[in-house]
Amino acid sequence: MITTATVLVAGATGDLGRRIVRELLRHDTLVRVLTRPGTGTAHGMYGGDDRVEVHEVAYTDRAGLASALSGVDTVISAVSGARPVIVDAQRALLAAAVAAGVARFIPSDYSADYRRITPGSNRNFELRRELAADLDAAPIRVTSVLNGAFADMLTGQAPMILFKRHRVLFWSSPDQILDFTTKDDVARIVALAALDANAPRVVEIAGDRVTARSIAGTMTELTKTPFSLQWAGTTGTLAAMSRIGRYLSKDKDQAFPAWQGMQYFVSMFNGEAELQHINNDRYGPHDWTSVRDVLDVHLKETTDGH
Ligand SMILES: NC(=O)c1ccc[n+]([C@@H]2O[C@H](COP(=O)([O-])OP(=O)(O)OC[C@H]3O[C@@H](n4cnc5c(N)ncnc54)[C@H](OP(=O)(O)O)[C@@H]3O)[C@@H](O)[C@H]2O)c1
Repeated sequence: MITTATVLVAGATGDLGRRIVRELLRHDTLVRVLTRPGTGTAHGMYGGDDRVEVHEVAYTDRAGLASALSGVDTVISAVSGARPVIVDAQRALLAAAVAAGVARFIPSDYSADYRRITPGSNRNFELRRELAADLDAAPIRVTSVLNGAFADMLTGQAPMILFKRHRVLFWSSPDQILDFTTKDDVARIVALAALDANAPRVVEIAGDRVTARSIAGTMTELTKTPFSLQWAGTTGTLAAMSRIGRYLSKDKDQAFPAWQGMQYFVSMFNGEAELQHINNDRYGPHDWTSVRDVLDVHLKETTDGH
């Protein structure tokens, strides 16, 4: 472990980014928050903490990036977006990190395994793969954290569980393994990897590994109401639907349009993005939050279960 590490977090005002900063501050760290000028959000969020320094810099401002990165040990990126962010902004951040002599770069991956997916099948994964080529060619140590889907999304954003209709959707197979990790568990691992001088190129974690069938069973147990599996088509038909949605979409740079959500399910349910080298114990024993825990909390929070 590096002592009193200086870690710069880009995208620290975001949902995952703020959790990563919270985790970093549990350790002997100084945190620099890199945020785009204009919103003042970061100052509001971190202004009162003397271990956090806020740097308002545009990703096009090379001198500003150089000054923010000077003396930094590790860069963590938790920015979110499509090509202008995942490729363009992160390339600028990478170039500045290399120029400043930063030791390690953690890109904003935090996804399922994008490395083996079929070309053209998942836009957001392919943006990460495109950036990975630059990262691997750069003279800097790189660590990606791959975690499957955020388990928190099962209660809303990932429409796989039809809470009202007591169904769980699946494409092709109800027995395909699906990797899920909560945002808090991801943030913990990102902070630990940032402080780990020997962190490997990829850290794969899964807070839980489930199937559509096991989720239906869990929902049945938790609600004491039978949840049945519902075939929603094959991953091939879902891929075709996402292509149509993409063709018809107006804003090509939206980060998570509905068609991209479909592509995520395609990559998960056809097995291409399944994690193959999970190492949950790398940073010692931890009480991982399971899909069951997430669903249980959600059901208790929603009085009528919807
Ligand atoms: N595996 C999964 O299921 C899953 C689900 C959701 C998200 N993710 C991934 O997790 C990461 C973080 O996502 P999140 O939901 O925490 O993101 P978020 O809250 O939407 O945004 C994160 C930060 O990105 C920065 N940002 C936004 N637009 C930008 C732009 N045009 N240029 C540069 N920076 C910009 C902002 O920081 P400033 O305003 O401070 O600059 C923002 O606070 C992303 O890689 C995302 O794809 C994974």
